[in-house]
Amino acid sequence: MIKNLPDIYVLATGGTIAGRAGSSTKAGYTSGQLDIKEMLKAVPDLDQIARVDGEQVCNIGSQDMSFEIMTRLARKINETLEKQEIDGIVVTHGTDTIEETAFFLNLTVNCTKPVIMTGSMRPSTAVSADGPLNLFNAVAVAADPEAKARGVMVVMNDRIHGAHSLTKTNTTSVETFLSPVTGLMGTVIYGEVKFFRGSFRKHTRESEFTTDYDLPLPRVDIIYACADMPPDLIDASVSRGARGIVIAGDGNGNMNQGSIKAAAEFAKKGIFIVRASRVPTGTVGRNVEVNDDAHGFIVSDELNPAKARILLMLALLKPRTGEEVQKLFYEY
Ligand code: DGL
Repeated sequence: MIKNLPDIYVLATGGTIAGRAGSSTKAGYTSGQLDIKEMLKAVPDLDQIARVDGEQVCNIGSQDMSFEIMTRLARKINETLEKQEIDGIVVTHGTDTIEETAFFLNLTVNCTKPVIMTGSMRPSTAVSADGPLNLFNAVAVAADPEAKARGVMVVMNDRIHGAHSLTKTNTTSVETFLSPVTGLMGTVIYGEVKFFRGSFRKHTRESEFTTDYDLPLPRVDIIYACADMPPDLIDASVSRGARGIVIAGDGNGNMNQGSIKAAAEFAKKGIFIVRASRVPTGTVGRNVEVNDDAHGFIVSDELNPAKARILLMLALLKPRTGEEVQKLFYEY
């Protein structure tokens, strides 16, 4: 007798999990080759843990992910989760930008039902492909009654990460995703789910952000700081229409004096300057080596440059002061 299983809806976007290679033991492959039906067929026993259906939203390598697709995905998720019969959503996605889409959805999905993302580091045709077990585990987490109201989570390699904390740390390894500042939300081993914590930040139902806007989103650029960084990179971004700049700074969000001067000039003219860090772990604090109060800068706190950009783009959809924007970086 089939148990009264949860209904989980899968939205597929492409990535390596849908990738195909000519050889099962060579590195080269193409993302976004399998469709959702083929992917689900490759995961035995799914019907033991949930009633699964789904659809293909797109089929791309996630290096081609866009805010147009993210917006379409968020609207589709909000619409799907309004259906009483749907208990949770799984999104399959490339790993290159999964942390960006996860954080975007964490801010714009307004339901407490589980939204779980997953992908893979090896294509579907590889020896020891990691996609099928990642997908099985993602459905198991989405089907778990404890997964509600924890924000968007990413399941990869038996680990459950929060959208706010995870980041990709290795170009090829299956254990590439870490949550270096706040640690894991939990683990899922062959479908056995264990949660260690909830989310420490605002998300989904508590979020003030929605997808009720017209594209394109306000332009925010990321500038990678380095030795002898040319200050005119900031000028170049602003001249191309950037309304905000995220500095992927060295160390604690630093940049050279010439760039600080250029950034401070633009901050005075209403361009939002956020100091994040190119360093993979740790937080960026106010007024450590840079006088943020004097220059009118904002710090990203725990957010890496890619996520800081997304928060600032959504924040700029309405008029805000520097203090109001800084508060958002401590809340989300
Ligand atoms: N093309 C990259 C992407 O879709 C491959 C990385 C992956 O999915 O693991 O993000």
